Formats: sequence, structure tokens, C-alpha cells
Amino acid sequence: MPVSRKLFIKTFGCQMNVYDSGRMSDALAASGYVEAASPDEADLVILNTCHIREKAAEKVFSELGRLRLLKSRRLEEGRRMIIGVAGCVAQAQGEEILDRAPVVDLVLGPQAYHKLPEIEQRVRSGERVIEMDFPAEEKFERLRGVDRRAAAAPVSAFLAVQEGCDKFCTFCVVPYTRGAEYSRPSGQILEEARKLAGQGVREITLLGQNVNAWSGGGEHGGNWRLADLLGAVAALPGIERLRYTTSHPRDMDDSLIEAHGALPQLMPYLHLPVQSGSDRILQAMNRRHNAEDYLRILERVRRARPGIALASDFIVGFPGETDADFEATMDLVREVNYAQSYSFKYSPRPGTPAAERDDQVDEALKAERLERLQTLINAQQLAFNAACEGREMAVLFDRPGRRPGQMAGRSPYLQAVHAEAGPELAGQVARVRIVNAGANSLTAELAGPAAATRKEAELEIRS
Ligand code: SAH
Ligand code: SF4
Ligand code: F3S
Repeated sequence: MPVSRKLFIKTFGCQMNVYDSGRMSDALAASGYVEAASPDEADLVILNTCHIREKAAEKVFSELGRLRLLKSRRLEEGRRMIIGVAGCVAQAQGEEILDRAPVVDLVLGPQAYHKLPEIEQRVRSGERVIEMDFPAEEKFERLRGVDRRAAAAPVSAFLAVQEGCDKFCTFCVVPYTRGAEYSRPSGQILEEARKLAGQGVREITLLGQNVNAWSGGGEHGGNWRLADLLGAVAALPGIERLRYTTSHPRDMDDSLIEAHGALPQLMPYLHLPVQSGSDRILQAMNRRHNAEDYLRILERVRRARPGIALASDFIVGFPGETDADFEATMDLVREVNYAQSYSFKYSPRPGTPAAERDDQVDEALKAERLERLQTLINAQQLAFNAACEGREMAVLFDRPGRRPGQMAGRSPYLQAVHAEAGPELAGQVARVRIVNAGANSLTAELAGPAAATRKEAELEIRS
């Protein structure tokens, strides 16, 4: 038996990073690592980083400053702390991290996580290691062993099906940090999904940087698109809910749109980022669709699945964005009426085409636009939540609630829901009545037995 060591992974960025952190932890289980509750007691600390905006990337260096103190304190006690940087900042700025932060022992790009046990050994024997391999194929193939998610008994799990991006939006670092689009084979995905179902997972969210670009051979031949894969996962016993994220409008094919009507397990929530409502800006962003294309897609999705909750991402202050361009975004948001949205000030990223442009928008103007957009988005979110008051819906409970005697879970529309209930509800889908709606969560009372499950898709918001 290997000695027991403690591991702490701090995760930044997107759900793919959350998934990857889990797989890194799994990979290190074989080297004797168990998870620590805090970095203070860890023998190995890994920062799983995000490079998407400047603010996200800067966090790495401030975290490393804190870890430097911890590391030297431990050294005074005669114990070693290994510090690693993984994720998208590692991929983008690996060399620079090693130069700027002597405290760092290892740097690992997102496609190299399967090498972690071997690299950990090398570091332990005194090396500083940097590893930034492409492609993703080997990573997934070799990270299939232990799965420690079982120990935590989650009700809802992420499952990466696709990684990387070939779209090259002119503002975005992802194609550089995550590499070319790669789809995991369906057999491998279904094997992981079956394992999760066996561990008690009720809800699976298929993940990809461009998840709807997923394609592959079917389990029994033929060519599959994401809709086929969703159908196959939905058919697994125990899987009651499915979601997928994040999609690109260009890859919203007919079969996927139809799946929203045909698959009761597919939850009525779609996150389909549009970024801007201005055709001029969409073109400059290289999104390869216009506002009208996007609106037509949503119209079809809404026809396939009436009552579906829609979400998007927006960037304000992309280079050259005029008042009129920004107003087009506001108009689009008003037209769609989103249940939820994320919005960001454009952040110039080194190495991306948009960062080179000489018509950057003034920071103060970006802030002003962001505030206006967020006011609108928040009002829409509150209205969507308020429309749920008095309605019944099925909630998948998965954790203790805010107050004692409460449980919390997710509605079909991904809203956080709190209800007076005992811990026996964990892992169950229960019918609730919404009694109060806030901007970020709903309060509910139990309205029926936990057995409602598959019928939940028929419960709609009809407003
Ligand atoms: N693959 C997804 C999302 C990728 S990143 C997609 O294609 O939509 C998540 C979000 O971060 C993006 O949707 C975008 O809104 C935002 N984002 C990406 N790069 C950014 C930048 N340079 N500045 C500000 N926001 C950015
Ligand atoms: Fe980035 Fe565009 Fe790819 Fe999304 S589609 S990851 S925004 S390049
Ligand atoms: Fe960030 Fe990389 Fe995800 S840049 S958003 S962690 S793909």
C-alpha cells in the first residue's frame, strides 16, 4: 500500500475544470492521495486555473502568493508541500509561471492529467516539471480507472464528452488552451454513464467546450450526433435527468432540437450563448451566424419544448461596439426573454485577434453597458422565477438546505429550490409547490411523493 498523502485541488473557471479536477483526484488516488479539507494540511496543492478573462487568470498569481507562505510554514515543520498549476493558464502561460513563481513545482496543461501520478513522482525526487501535451484522446483513454465520485455519492454528475474548440471566436482563448475539437467515443462515454448510474447518480450533464459539436460512431454502428448520445444515456436505468452544456448555435442541428421535445429526461433548460445582438459585432467575433439565425433556432427549440428556460452569455464592449450595436444586444435580450444569463465586459486576451484591434472600447463605457444589460437580465430572471410561484414542479434534491430541517435541490429549469424536508429526500426527485421566488432561488413545500420522476417533464410553466 502506498503511504497516505493529502491532496487539495482548487478549481477555477468552467464546469470542464470541475470535471477535470475530479479526474485528477481519481488519478492520484492510486498514488495514495486522499482529499484534504483545506490547503493547510495538504501535501499536494493543485490550482486548476482559467484563462478566459484577465481577472480569472490573475487570480493564479495571488493564490500562489498565499500558497508560498503555507509552503514555507510547512517546511519549517519539516514537511514538504508540492504546488502544481493545471488548467488553461498552465497551458497558456506555463513557462512564465515557472519563471515568475519559484514556489511552483509542476505545471500541467489540460490534456496531460493522466500523467499526473508519474509527474508527481518526478517532482517528489526533486525535479520541476512542465507538461503541456495535446491531444485529448490519450487523456480520456487513460483516466478511466478509479472513480472517487462514488465515495461522495453525488446525485448529479458531469460527464465530459467533448473537449476543445475549432470555432476560433476572435475574443476567445479556448481553442488555444484546449486544442482542437475532440469527441470521446460513445462506448467510453456510455461506460462512464453506466458506472455513474450504478453509483446512484440520477442526473448527468454532458460537458464539452462545444458539446453539440460532438459526433462519433454509434454503439452498434452508424454515425451519431449529440441527440443520439443523449438518447442512449437517457435509456440507462437510473438516469432520470439529462442536461448538456455549452452549445454553439452553429451546431444546433435538427435532431438536437427535436430531442428537446422527444426525450422526457432532457430537462427543459438550454444554455445557448449568443454573445451579442448586433450582426456587425457577431461577424467581427467570427461567430458565423447572425442574430436572426439565432432567434430562429430558439423559436424552433421553443416549439419543440414549450416552456423551456433559455440562457445565454453576453460580452459587452467588444472592440468597435457602438451604442447602436449595444442597443441591438438589449433588443435581442428583450425579444428572447431569458430565464438566466451571464454577461461580461470584453477582456482582451493575449494572442487572440480581437485583442490586437485598435478600436478597444473605453473601460468606463463597458462598465456602463454591463450594468444596463445586467439590470435587464436580472429583471428577466426574477420575472421567470416569480412566474413559478404557486406552480408544481419536480425537484431533484441533493444537499442540505440553508437552514436546519431544509433540503435543497434543482428544478427542471436549473433553479435552486429550498424546502422543509428530511435528509431521506437526498437523491430523490420530489414534487413540490413553489411558495416564494427570489432572484436566485425558490422556496417550496413538498406536494407529493418522491415517485413523480419521469412525469416531471410534463409539468410546465404556463404563463
Ligand atoms: N464554448 C462556449 C463558452 C466559452 S467561454 C461558447 O462558445 O459559448 C464562456 C463565456 O465566456 C463565453 O460564452 C463568453 O461570453 C465569455 N468570454 C469568452 N472570452 C471572453 C473575453 N475575452 N472577454 C469577456 N468574456 C469572454
Ligand atoms: Fe470560445 Fe467561441 Fe469556441 Fe466558445 S465557440 S469556446 S466562445 S472560440
Ligand atoms: Fe476557463 Fe479554460 Fe474553462 S479558459 S472557461 S477553464 S476552458
